[in-house]
This record gives sequence, structure tokens and C-alpha cells, in this order.
Amino acid sequence: MSFDLVLFGGTGDLAWRKLMPALFQAFRHGSLPEGGRILGVGRDDLSDDAYRALIQSRFDHVDLAKRPSPEEFARFAALLHFVRMDLSQPADYTRLAAALNTRQADTLVMYLATAPALFTTVCEQIAAVGLNQPRTRIVLEKPLGHDLASNRAINAAVCRVLDERQVFRIDHYLGKPSVQNLFALRFGNALFEPLWRREHIANIQITIAEDLGVEKRGAFYDSTGALRDMVQNHALQLLCAIGMEPPINAHADAIRDEKLKVLRSLKAWTPQSLAQDVIRGQYTAGTLGGAAVPGYRDEPGVHPQTATETFVALRTEIANWRWAGVPFYLRTGKRLAGRDARIVVNFRATPHAIFNAPNGAVNRLVIHLQPKDGLELHLLAQGADTRRNHQAKVQTLSPVQLDLDFDTRFGAERVGAYERLLLDVIDGRLNLFVRSDEQEEAWRWIGPILDAWQADPNGPRPYAAGSWGPSASSAMIARDGYCWSEEC
Ligand code: BG6
Repeated sequence: MSFDLVLFGGTGDLAWRKLMPALFQAFRHGSLPEGGRILGVGRDDLSDDAYRALIQSRFDHVDLAKRPSPEEFARFAALLHFVRMDLSQPADYTRLAAALNTRQADTLVMYLATAPALFTTVCEQIAAVGLNQPRTRIVLEKPLGHDLASNRAINAAVCRVLDERQVFRIDHYLGKPSVQNLFALRFGNALFEPLWRREHIANIQITIAEDLGVEKRGAFYDSTGALRDMVQNHALQLLCAIGMEPPINAHADAIRDEKLKVLRSLKAWTPQSLAQDVIRGQYTAGTLGGAAVPGYRDEPGVHPQTATETFVALRTEIANWRWAGVPFYLRTGKRLAGRDARIVVNFRATPHAIFNAPNGAVNRLVIHLQPKDGLELHLLAQGADTRRNHQAKVQTLSPVQLDLDFDTRFGAERVGAYERLLLDVIDGRLNLFVRSDEQEEAWRWIGPILDAWQADPNGPRPYAAGSWGPSASSAMIARDGYCWSEEC
């Protein structure tokens, strides 16, 4: 099956940081279908060879193990071509269509790794030159809008020229092997399903912590913030994966229907819950890994008085029969104490105690997403001090854990998120992509938070870089009698 992959934004950051390395890995693994072409699109005046040389130089920044040898790159480079385009110029699309129509590949993928402001124009122009054909698939990178109205406008423009089944909205978290495993854990195993409900689960915590700051993206990030950058998409997709009902099969719409139901069931915000259950923070100067790092307001591209949040923690509930009353805590931030993404499922305490348990110890399932990829099941067992324990009237148990490390188990066989997602687009598999109604529902749900922040003169709470965020985040969860997993 032949394919042409057109990469709008072919010289941009995403192209060389994520997409080209992922395409190269797919090529190296032999999973990229034969007879493919990758056409980078950009404004520069580059020949194919100059583009290949540019991409090759970018591989110097990629992990050593994922870097091609000169011989490998030469074979990969044969796939690469460059098309100079000014995306606002209709005539340039005519040239693109001419280049693509010379060979009529079986699949035509248009990857929009450009500023979202261009999405509508690109879609209209693709249609104007007749490239919106049944073989066409379009890939849209986030951010898809900055609120519900702008998201709807993009979706409407795309759906005027292509069918929803041709639209691949990327959330790269869905491509991570650890997130695939979350689906496998829940829907490929019978063990947890009977326990996966309000009767047995006390609370669920989703943390996506980053130790990095905003790097070179200060200007973009300052107009976006953590809620739009991480919660509206990645964190809510994880919430869906953990909270959804078992789909009737593994087809894209069956999965997406169930995720949509979760988003629709999220408890509506009230003035009171907005005030109590959503914490926003902004990092100040601090220390990370022993080195001093600047505060957010001192990062390049960031306004010195900015009120943009770099941290969000919130509490919500899924209002349905399975989950009514179970708090779901979501938390994400930049410049936190470490890079650590995990979901913690805290089970309820035993209904009747015949042993002593260490303070706060409960059964807990920890799903590590990154950097570690694995599962930990925390249980209680007879500890080492059995002699003293034997003499005591009531024995005290010790925490122990079953630890499953997927990196060790599957190591080299694992496929990275972008590699997986790009191959899925080429093969036409929509399972790991977000449907427009899901995305709109997520924007609808965060809308009241954005409105409340806009009207609140207090701005985000400061937290020192290298900490776990503002103390109000711990206070929020403590109100329910719980604590974040690193605190207890
Ligand atoms: C992106 C955000 O979607 O996800 C970034 O725009 C963030 O701000 C990144 O750093 C995190 O992705 P990962 O895969 O490194 O956890």
C-alpha cells in the first residue's frame, strides 16, 4: 500500500523533535509500508537534498539509540521530499496537488503541524484543489482552539471538506504504551473489573508532573496555560480511560462513545466548586536537581506580570452509577519535583479490622505512565518483626507491593507514541484519536474554569520550582480526608 504523507510545518519544531524521529523508527522497524513518500512543506526555499541534510542534522539531538547511521539515513532520506509553500497562497496548493496527483498513492495523509490559526485555510484550500478525496486523511495537532467556540469553528471547517472518519485528532498520550496498557489492564483482564467501582474505590488520583519549565515555548505557553495545554486533552483522556465503561468492541467509535459518556457525566461546576475544587499555581524561582532555576515570569517570551497558570489541581466526580461520590483528583504542572505521570487508584479500607495497619495504608493500584512504565499493587502483609508481632494482641501489618515493570518485560519491542500514531493514521485506524464531540465536550467542561479565572483578580498561587505545587493543592485533597500519593 503506497502512501504520501504531507507534513505541513515540515521544518518546524514538532517535525524534527517528534515526527521525523518517529517516522525513522517506523522505517527502521520495517513497519512503514513500502512505497511511501514524506513531503515536508515549509516556506523556505529548499531542494530535496537541502531538506534531507537539514533533517539529518536535527537527528544529532535525538537519543543515541534512536539515531540513524549514515547508511540508514541515506535509505530513509530517499523517502523525503520538500515542497515550498506559502500556506496563504491558493496557487501554492495547485502546485502541491500537481506533485501529489502525478502518482495517486493509495493513501494521502495531510499532517497539520502548523499554527492552528492556519487549519481552516489549509482545509479550505485542500478542498479547492480537489485533494479532499476518499483516500485523504488529515491529522490535526493540538491545540485545536482555545475555547469551545474556536474549537467548534475548526471542527466545522474541517468537516465541511472531509468526513469525520478522515479526521485524526492527535492526543499523543493515547499513543503511549502505558496508556495502551491501561486499556489492556481494564478490558483484557477480568481481575479488576468487579472492584472497579464506587463500592470498592475510595478515590482516584491522576498526576502528570513535569520537571521541565516552558523551555523555548514561553510565548506560546503564556497564551495557553496548563489547563488548556494539559488538562483539556491529556488529563481528561486519562480520566476517560480509567473511568469509562467497557466498550462493546475495540472499534474506534465503540471506544469513543464510552469516553464521550464519561465527559458528559463530569459533575457540572458551581460557583462553590470552582472556588474550592480548582487550584491554579505559577512557579517561582527554585531548585531542581541541585541547580537554581528561574521563576516562570523570568522565562523568555513570558510577560513579567503574567497570570498564566503553570499548575492545576482539581477535584471532580463522574456522576453515574459506577462512580457517584468517588472523587477524581487531577493534577499537572511544570517545574514540579520530578517527571512523573501516574494514576493512583486507592481502594477502600477493610470493612472490619482484625489487624493493625500502618497509618493511612490501604490497598492501592499505581499505574505508572512515565518515566517508569508499569504497575504496582500495594498490599498489606505480615512484616519482618514477626516475633514481637506474635506476642502482641493485635498484629501489625506491613506494606508490601507487587511490582510489574513493562519496560523490562517488553523493552525493545515497545513502540513510541508518535510512531504508533503515525502508523495508525497511515493504516486508517482511528481508535487512538479523538472525535470532535469528545473534544468539544472537554472544552465545554473546562469553560467555566476559564471564565472564573478571568473574573478572579487573585491570579495563580505561587509555588517554588522543584516542589509539588501550591500547598492549597494538598489542602484541597485533605478536605476529603485523603492526601496525594507522595504525601502518604
Ligand atoms: C504537550 C504539551 O502536549 O505535552 C507540553 O504541550 C508538555 O507542554 C507535553 O510538555 C508533555 O508530553 P510528554 O509526552 O513529555 O509527557
